[in-house]
Amino acid sequence: MLGIFDSGIGGLTVAREIKKIRPNQPLVYFGDTARCPWGDKKARTIKRYTEEITEFLIGRGAREIVIACNTSAALAEKYLQKRFPCVRFHNVIDPVIARIGAELKNNKKSFLKIGVIGTRATVQSGIFKRRLKILGKNVSVSARACPRLVPLIEKGETDKKIPGLVLAGYLSDFRKNPVDYLILGCTHYPLLKKPIQEILGKKIKIIGSDRETARAIEKNIPAGFKAKRKDVFYFSRLDSRKRELIQKIMGRKVLIKEKPWKD
Ligand code: DGL
Repeated sequence: MLGIFDSGIGGLTVAREIKKIRPNQPLVYFGDTARCPWGDKKARTIKRYTEEITEFLIGRGAREIVIACNTSAALAEKYLQKRFPCVRFHNVIDPVIARIGAELKNNKKSFLKIGVIGTRATVQSGIFKRRLKILGKNVSVSARACPRLVPLIEKGETDKKIPGLVLAGYLSDFRKNPVDYLILGCTHYPLLKKPIQEILGKKIKIIGSDRETARAIEKNIPAGFKAKRKDVFYFSRLDSRKRELIQKIMGRKVLIKEKPWKD
């Protein structure tokens, strides 16, 4: 059983790609919609949330867990690995760094500009800058926190006027001073990939963690599982709009359950 978690619906972008590559891989997902967004919270709070959710997923049979949340991977992965040595954790940052590394090798330019967008906590952690700088090519990395995006995406507002304006504001520096690659350093952002590409134009290559992580999972987790178990998608708060949104992102009817959480 593969566990996946996120602060909300963002990790579904990763779950969806994993199911495309491995339709028979049983999944148990947890989205902490009641306490989302996490990106403005303190590191110790994010660690506590991820610890609770990991315990829950282990209780549901998960021994391989995808931290489908950049914020949590940036701040809590080392802690989780120490706390739960019986679990193999996978994150959404390593596969993106590996992909950029491969891109850089094939790119003839001697100097490359990389942009990163993410939550406040992810950007403040400096994880992308640190990891990209050691890839061994001349790169400049500029990161921008976009704290208003996750709440809008959680409401399902991805194609309306206001998110478009908010997004254009966040991306204005990357438009004025174009980068070669833009990393979507939050698993919610692939849901805005189309408007982001429209704002930035086709020359900027957008790299998200959804596909990259699914490919890494395909490589790293053996496929010898029993396919009989049904996928379950737990969320700490649900309403009918959220249920619809989850089905829409997954592109099919999935089993959704509410698991309320005391804070
Ligand atoms: N999807 C989470 C991430 O990748 C969003 C965190 C939040 O809730 O702010 O960082």
